[in-house]
Amino acid sequence: MNDSLSPFYRRLAAQADGLFEDERHPVSNAANLAALLYHELDRVNWVGFYFLEGEVLKVGPFQGLPACTTIPLGRGVCGTAAKRRAVLRVDDVHRFDGHIVCDTASNSELVVPLLRDGEVIGVLDLDSPDFGRFTPEDEAGIAHIAARYLASVD
Ligand code: SME
Repeated sequence: MNDSLSPFYRRLAAQADGLFEDERHPVSNAANLAALLYHELDRVNWVGFYFLEGEVLKVGPFQGLPACTTIPLGRGVCGTAAKRRAVLRVDDVHRFDGHIVCDTASNSELVVPLLRDGEVIGVLDLDSPDFGRFTPEDEAGIAHIAARYLASVD
């Protein structure tokens, strides 16, 4: 376990590992992880996955309101994080050039790219109705859990 994680995220990562035990299907583990994060994190209105198919991200398992199904690489917060292969933590999505509105309640967003052998296969996306909801602690915790998800699937 990663010592730099807060106790909250250490517990959440252990819960995620518990869900992944004996299951290696990427959709099943993504679905359970989206549900875990949505219910355990406070002040989030959307948590879910987009998976890369060719040049676009397609929506995967999520919790929250129905979302846009297709995001071109390089577009929006998700497509930009995927293209740059970098975490994006956006305190005010309305100030992010090209932000794609799925739920008008969303005001801040955290997007973690999912990298396998250095190649992006998708993103884990979290939205909050609060401005500045996501801290460096959240970024470290969610990035760690995203890595645990990747290790859990084939
Ligand atoms: N806001 C995202 C789109 C996905 S939804 O938030 C679920 C974006 O700009 O990429």
